[in-house]
Amino acid sequence: MIDLSNIDKNVPMLESKGLCKYFGGLKAVENVDMKIMPGDIFGIIGPNGAGKTTFFNMCTGMYTPTKGNVYLMGEDVTGFSPERVARKRMARTFQNLQLFKFMSVLDNVKIGCHISTKTGMWDAIFHTKRYKEDEEYVIYKSEEVLKAIGLYQYRDTMAGNLAYGMQRKVEIARALALEPYILLLDEPAAGMNPQEKEALMDFIKMLNDGGYTIAVIEHDMKFVMNSCNRILVLNFGEKICEGTPDQVKSDRKVHEAYFGKGIIAGEAVKVHG
Ligand SMILES: Nc1ncnc2c1ncn2[C@@H]1O[C@H](COP(=O)(O)OP(=O)(O)O)[C@@H](O)[C@H]1O
Ligand SMILES: [Mg+2]
Repeated sequence: MIDLSNIDKNVPMLESKGLCKYFGGLKAVENVDMKIMPGDIFGIIGPNGAGKTTFFNMCTGMYTPTKGNVYLMGEDVTGFSPERVARKRMARTFQNLQLFKFMSVLDNVKIGCHISTKTGMWDAIFHTKRYKEDEEYVIYKSEEVLKAIGLYQYRDTMAGNLAYGMQRKVEIARALALEPYILLLDEPAAGMNPQEKEALMDFIKMLNDGGYTIAVIEHDMKFVMNSCNRILVLNFGEKICEGTPDQVKSDRKVHEAYFGKGIIAGEAVKVHG
């Protein structure tokens, strides 16, 4: 469980207003308003190229928006660096796994922790008192996360030697080590087999029960419709719908733009079946 005593339940955890990102003439994200409330499992769906990852990249400070603003727990964080956003306790994972494959699982997770400690390069090089204290805390914290996520037994394993689904979990562990209030997951189930996927979905629900707010980009309609309480649908960079699973399922624009074209037709059948 995370401590939510500082959280105002009525203030959106993450909000965007009029968010735009243009790459030359390409409008990757156009005028997107979104509100994620504390405790949500918020799904973001849309065909490939719809602007989902770009939207996340603006929320987490990796891209500066062309226009518009991002608010984290009520604070305007537009244009903040990724490190600064992370220290405000928003963590993310990447669509393309970003692990250090030749480092141990524990060392990969420790990287997440270090963002929230005060150790500077100087401390690290000269092993100052602060470095030693921080290092002890970081190891303790990382091991706690690994225990919670069921990876403790692999702490000394080289990350690249784990099965793909496990590597994805290590990346989530690293994000959790940052002690976030909100976790942004970009296609966390991509490349997983059905069993791994099922386990991951249960895990995401467990994290949410533990108090984490989750925003997840996901193509698996069964998961999105059953587990998310709110969903944002993007198409060609624009928001075409935001609402509950039932609202999204019955939205005419969503049908026309998304299900209608059969882009994920196989999945869409499951929604109605
Ligand atoms: N750094 C970039 N430079 C130029 N174009 C980009 C960049 N990142 C994304 N795009 C383009 O923006 C559009 C949206 O991409 P993306 O956000 O990755 O979509 P999604 O995650 O929904 O599949 C695509 O047309 C993509 O090619
Ligand atoms: Mg993407």
